[in-house]
Amino acid sequence: MKKFEIITSVLEYENEELPKSIRELVEKAKKETEKAYAPYSNFKVGVAVLLKNGEIILGSNQENAAYPSGLCAERTAIFYANSQYPNTPVDKIAIAAFTNNDFTNNPITPCGGCRQVLREVETRYEHPITVILYGKKKTYILNDVESLMPLNFVKDNLMNN
Ligand code: THU
Repeated sequence: MKKFEIITSVLEYENEELPKSIRELVEKAKKETEKAYAPYSNFKVGVAVLLKNGEIILGSNQENAAYPSGLCAERTAIFYANSQYPNTPVDKIAIAAFTNNDFTNNPITPCGGCRQVLREVETRYEHPITVILYGKKKTYILNDVESLMPLNFVKDNLMNN
């Protein structure tokens, strides 16, 4: 038996020190929370996806009375991006959430299902996706989705590699 460790690096920013281009993407994600359909959780999530061609795709969570039929903001945006631009890698994703009349103090972190989907996109285009997680107190930036989900399952695993 041997033990190994997997280290995740997270860059923690004061919001004021975020580079301008990142701040602009975050602002778009924040604005997008207004379009969320979240009557059940009242937790409104907004996402801005920057593609490698400069296009920005926006999305929000879309809930349903049959709860599991709803979809997170990340998947709403990323599936739309991939269906509209199937040949264009995703470069960055910014995520923000609004609840109880304000944005969350701490960075919002995507659920496991969305991490899996984002990781698929990262491997599909062989291009790391910068993940930007906004909170009022601080913002986290990760250099890729893999950092959010070590030992993740990808298509190579299906090949018995
Ligand atoms: N949600 C997202 O859209 N993204 C996340 O990263 C976490 C959760 C949504 C799902 C549901 O509509 C609501 O937030 C509460 O879980």
